[in-house]
Amino acid sequence: MSFPTHRPRRLRRNEALRGLVRETKLSVSSMVYPMFACPGTKVRTEVSSMPGIFQQSVDQIVEECREVAGLGIPAVLLFGLPEKKDALASEAADPRGPVQRAVEAIRKAKLNLLVITDVCLCEYTDHGHCGVIENEQVLNDPSLIVLADAALSHARAGADIVAPSDMMDGRVAAIRRRLDENNFEDLAIMSYAAKYCSGFYGPFREAAQSAPQFGDRRSYQMDPGNAREALREVATDLEEGADMIMVKPAMPYLDIVQKVRERFDVPVAAYNVSGEYSMVKAAARNGWIDEQRVVLEILTGIQRAGAEIIVTYHAKDAARWLKA
Ligand code: PBG
Repeated sequence: MSFPTHRPRRLRRNEALRGLVRETKLSVSSMVYPMFACPGTKVRTEVSSMPGIFQQSVDQIVEECREVAGLGIPAVLLFGLPEKKDALASEAADPRGPVQRAVEAIRKAKLNLLVITDVCLCEYTDHGHCGVIENEQVLNDPSLIVLADAALSHARAGADIVAPSDMMDGRVAAIRRRLDENNFEDLAIMSYAAKYCSGFYGPFREAAQSAPQFGDRRSYQMDPGNAREALREVATDLEEGADMIMVKPAMPYLDIVQKVRERFDVPVAAYNVSGEYSMVKAAARNGWIDEQRVVLEILTGIQRAGAEIIVTYHAKDAARWLKA
């Protein structure tokens, strides 16, 4: 039952045929665009390792959100750079912080755009870790209180979804409880459930000024060698009340995306992170790869692995290319 009866090339003869039988059709409706909000006005500073990505004050964020919504991208993911960092991440829950003000301003602009906020402490701590520190140890339970405070402040500002990325144990339950106690029972949680300790976050740490000042994140983020552990992480986050879960980074962890997709019946997101973006940009700038082809191939691969939501810095370009 093989050649010459079967000729797979029959269905590849022209674009109409290929389109008809294509299993994965990349769509802008699954994309989320990450953005970095900073203090001030009229600030728009390009991140040197992430061409096309900016640290922006709230007024500029709103302008870019208008463009994002116009391109048909359904959601943005907001990160914040505070005025001042301290040991306890005091500004993480500040109602006048850049993220909280950006959420309010986007809401006020009445854009057709979902606003997701990243909930973490590393951008707000002077030591750069994702939790509270004692004797150079990241403490789990005391961090939960600060994370829940931050999530509640995002909810009050009008966020549609909060996305904890810190990898403390029990943070989803702590955030869910705090939101429910404050009548935000309808606000969804997208947890970064399987977040690996990855070298691919390098450029992000420039963008968010969040590099740890000592040590690394190995005591809370996952070891790259582990796959079964990712399923346990997802299961616990779902038990704690997560509505959607995320795998991060995307490209080196597509097996995890696929396993999670097969095992759990909840929306799965994958984060095509900063280092993945920067590598493509650098190679494209050198003329070594065709950026458009490579980006659409990467995003298709992530979707084919099973992610229905893709967080990507390429979202605006991809939206334009998919429209053309
Ligand atoms: C905060 C956070 C990080 C990223 C998203 N949320 C950095 C980190 O864990 O060091 C990385 C995103 C990217 O690289 O694009 N904890």
